[in-house]
Parts: sequence; C-alpha cells; structure tokens
Amino acid sequence: MIVFVIGSTRKNGAEHCNEQRGIVYSYGAVQTMNREQGSGMPHPLFIAYEQLKQRIPFAPLGEYPTPVEKLSGLEGALQASGLYIKRDDKSSYDYGGNKVRKLEFLLADAVSKGKKQTVTFGYAGSNHSLAVAVFAKRLGLEPISLHIPQPNAAYVRKNLLLQACLGTELHHYSNMTSIYVGTVLVMIKSFLKTGKLPYLIPPGGSNVVGTMGMVGSVLELQEQIEQGLMPEPDVVYVPLGSCGSAAGIALGAKALGWKTQIRAVRVSERKGADRKTARALFDGAARNLRRLLPTFPSVEFADEDFEVNHDYLGDGYAHFTKKGMGAVKLAAERDGIRLDGTYTGKAMAALIDDAGEGRLAGKVTLFWNTYNSVDFRDKIGKIDFQQLPKAYHPYFTEDDQPLEIPLEQEGT
Ligand SMILES: Cc1ncc(COP(=O)(O)O)c(C=O)c1O
Repeated sequence: MIVFVIGSTRKNGAEHCNEQRGIVYSYGAVQTMNREQGSGMPHPLFIAYEQLKQRIPFAPLGEYPTPVEKLSGLEGALQASGLYIKRDDKSSYDYGGNKVRKLEFLLADAVSKGKKQTVTFGYAGSNHSLAVAVFAKRLGLEPISLHIPQPNAAYVRKNLLLQACLGTELHHYSNMTSIYVGTVLVMIKSFLKTGKLPYLIPPGGSNVVGTMGMVGSVLELQEQIEQGLMPEPDVVYVPLGSCGSAAGIALGAKALGWKTQIRAVRVSERKGADRKTARALFDGAARNLRRLLPTFPSVEFADEDFEVNHDYLGDGYAHFTKKGMGAVKLAAERDGIRLDGTYTGKAMAALIDDAGEGRLAGKVTLFWNTYNSVDFRDKIGKIDFQQLPKAYHPYFTEDDQPLEIPLEQEGT
C-alpha cells in the first residue's frame, strides 16, 4: 500500500504556551478529584446522580455554568421572540467551545488508564484537535494531532499555531488512506516511547464517553431554567459534525422529560453526520449511564424530536457559504456574538431561515453556541509557522477561501 505522508515532525512549542495549571483529578477507582481548576461547581451530572461520580473518571476542565442569554438583537432583526443562546463558547478561560465537556470525561478516562499520550484526528483547522491539545497538556498528557486537508481560513492558522505552541506533535496526511496508515505508525512510535499505546480520541470526541459529557450541559441548563433565565426550550439549534454534541443534548433533554426538538444542522459531508450516528451515540451513552447507574432514566431516541437539516453545508466541510457568513455578521452586529463559518454560522443560517418561514413562531428557541470565543492571539504571536511540518506551510502562504472575514474584523 502506498502511504502519502506529507508531513510528520515533532515540534517543541514555546514554553509560554505550556501553562500547566492543572493537576489530574478523578473519581472512584483512580484518584481523588476536585473542581478547583474549574468553576468550583460540582458537575451537574453528579449533582443529579450522585452515585455516578464514584463510577466515571472525570477531570474538571471547564468553567460552568456557561451563560444563557437572550438574543434581543436577533429577535429584532428577525422579528421573532423567545430567542436564547447557550454560551458554551465560554466553557473555559483557556479555550471554550463544545469540546470541553466531552474532554472532561475522555481525558480523565485516558489518565485513569495510565496513558501518556493522546492521538486525535481532524481536518487541519480542527477546533477539536486544538481543544485536546490544550486540555491534554493541562492533565500532563502529550497530545498528537493527525490532520487531513481542508479549505484555507484564518482560524486554521490560529489553531495550528496554538497547537505548535503547546508542543503538540502534528502530522498532516493527504487523504484518509494515509491517515489510517499514519495512525498505526504513530501508535507504534508512541508505544516504543512510553511503553503504552496512546489514548485514541475519535474525531470531534464523539463516542459514548464524550457524549456523556454533553448530557451534563442540559442538566446545567435545567438549573438555569429553574432560576428563571429562560423557559424550557421548544427547539435547540446546534451544528452537526461528529454528532456527539447534538446526541448528548438530545439525551439530556429526554432524561429530563422535555419535549424539546433538536434541530441539528449538518456541517460535514462525512457519512457519519446523520441521524443514524446521532441515534447510536444517544443509545450508547444512555445504555452506559444505565449500566453505571440503573436508576438513570430509561429513554428512547425519537426521530421526530431530532431533525437533521442538510441544506446549509454548501460545497462541503469548512467551505464558507454566503448564508453562513451572513449569519456570522448578523449575530456579531446584533448581539455581539462571535460565530464561525464552518459550524455555528451554518447552524445560525438555518435558524434565520426558519424564523423567516415562521417555524419559530410561538416557540422558545435556543441556539447552542459551540464555538470558542476566547481570544488566544497573544499566545501565538511569537510562533513562526516555519516551526510546523512543511505540509502545513501552504495554509500560511496561500490565499484564504472566498468569503473569509478578516481577523481584525472578527475580534478573536
Ligand atoms: C465549533 C464547533 N461546533 C460544532 C462542532 C460539531 O460538534 P459535533 O462534532 O459534536 O457534532 C464542532 C466539531 O468539531 C466544532 O468545532
């Protein structure tokens, strides 16, 4: 078999990125955890189901609860009412977004298994691989990111530079075949170095363990609803990539007995960005939670409560669309919310069109902001892209795709 490995060099990052603020915590059989590194709040899953905390490795990485806010500006622009946003973009002071909640369980699992290195996968600008790097470092694990090509954009460069800065081992492959072969080689190398196979985290962190992390977000939201921050949502808009976020939100909503419909907006052409995958993650996480705690509610995935909207992908994953970028601009102008062109802009574009078609009338609508809003430009300012393996250099020397919003306008 021919292997098309374009670049695969270990790069040591600048020390100023390695702010090792965390120690490893875990519950149950592993070590004793606390939440000092996070908000100090117990995890909502463990408040609702106390015995679970003895049974699942968990590492507190985020700052919760993430705010719930009214989207008053968009309500005005869209002549809609009952629009809210869940600010998971603020889930961590280091790097927010939807990955933090998944990684609190995934990385704790890695630590509990005595792993030394993580290996994860994504497109070159993957927010997920960056999140793994940020939080793996915090827990003393060495991150390795395996990437495949994607359309160029400013965020790709930023995400790569921060990974390099953190000392992440970066590999860029030209296609899926070469990444499979590359994975095997990286695993062998890791074994030889650490005496252990690395901890493999699937793209987007979407497996049963990661999906469980998202369930807690809905229990957190329930508390915010009880505090009067918003009514129970009738519909939730969320981007659909590797499906763990939407599946976890759907499971949390069902566990609470809500009638909420998840409107998942597909942002990837991967075969796995569909209802079947979301259902498998929902069922797997539900089964696992009930295995760990038989009193966890017995819930079923309902097709009618999980709509997948396929109309906003455009030319493919990470290809910006006019509607998506229009939504990014509108959210920034009207509510000061920063979205992105790959995920959240497309989901917001669907919400905007649905509002225009009257699909939100009389409903409480929640937009789940899955994109990081922490500005980390100060951390990457001194990093030279030449430090990255050569295969990544075109992202720094070639033009961005059309419709890109210049960095100075997007804020972070
Ligand atoms: C900003 C952002 N939003 C949404 C998603 C999609 O979430 P999921 O992969 O859980 O479907 C991703 C995945 O990488 C992401 O980076």
